[in-house]
Amino acid sequence: TRKKKIGLIGGGQIGGNLALLAVQKNLGDVVLFDIPAAEGLVKGKALDINQLSAVDGYDCRVTGSTDWKDVAGSDVIIITAGVPRKPGMSREDLLDINLKIMKDVAANIKQHAPNAFVINVANPLDAMVFALYKIAELPKNMVVGMAGVLDTSRFKCFVAEALNTSIRDVEALVLGGHGDDMVPLVRHSTVGGVPLTELIAKDKLEAIVKRTREGGAELVALYKTGSAYFGPAASSIAMAESFLLDRKRVLPGAALLEGQYGINGYFFGAPLQIGAGGVEKVITVQLDDSEKAALEKSFQSVKKTVDSVKL
Ligand code: APR
Repeated sequence: TRKKKIGLIGGGQIGGNLALLAVQKNLGDVVLFDIPAAEGLVKGKALDINQLSAVDGYDCRVTGSTDWKDVAGSDVIIITAGVPRKPGMSREDLLDINLKIMKDVAANIKQHAPNAFVINVANPLDAMVFALYKIAELPKNMVVGMAGVLDTSRFKCFVAEALNTSIRDVEALVLGGHGDDMVPLVRHSTVGGVPLTELIAKDKLEAIVKRTREGGAELVALYKTGSAYFGPAASSIAMAESFLLDRKRVLPGAALLEGQYGINGYFFGAPLQIGAGGVEKVITVQLDDSEKAALEKSFQSVKKTVDSVKL
């Protein structure tokens, strides 16, 4: 079979890590694309990564490019084109500047790679993936936003630390928008099959939920010049891999909802089955009244931002 092709739009902090992970996992050849002003950056990262491929002996190559023609024929596209947060900013503060960038990127995807499975990482996540879907006119199953994998991964990390237990046995679910009112579902999270609520005291669990919700901001405060990049890269690769290898993993992500959770016509975080068909299923979870209320609050935040988007 033909080697797969992965188009990375944006060759900054997340883009560079995506390129490295994609070749280390032998997922396919990578095109690291950026604007002409960043030509040296993407050509440099490509060369640097190709040189280290000899160390471990992987056969995939990275090409740095500023020409959309090189992105054509990509099986997967991951978008990280956009400005990251600085301390004190919310993700919504990035809307105007990143929407301008997304309009350019989405129009080019429509023209050059209309058959790709497209994963958006740029923020504000739920609004950017909505704009992408509308402008690029992608089939609904072929466009998704990456946030939930990272948000659940943060939650799992804090749970494993609190219990001093292996992260491998922690299962967790975070629903909703990629904002401070996302909904970590404590009742549905387990360690080795045992519900979290039986393992961690309520106040400690509440602190973990709060830290998860504000996980992005905690990193922005530390980095000062940008936002998280290792976590977002690894999380996006998990989604890309499930598509490319038809793994059919159930991963949380932002997909177009059509009635699930009482939401219609918006991208919103839910458990998704991702395989060769892209988003093959949106899974619904039975929620109690307080969970429903928390999800509704998160949706109202997403809706407010999305409704302000002028395409
Ligand atoms: N087309 C392609 N690339 C672009 C475009 C464009 N129109 N506009 C900007 N870029 C590139 C920039 O040149 C830069 O190299 O996007 C890259 C972004 O990289 P960083 O500034 O390092 O940002 P990063 O940390 O990778 O985050 C990117 O992901 O998590 C979100 O909030 C974050 O929206 C931000 C995005």
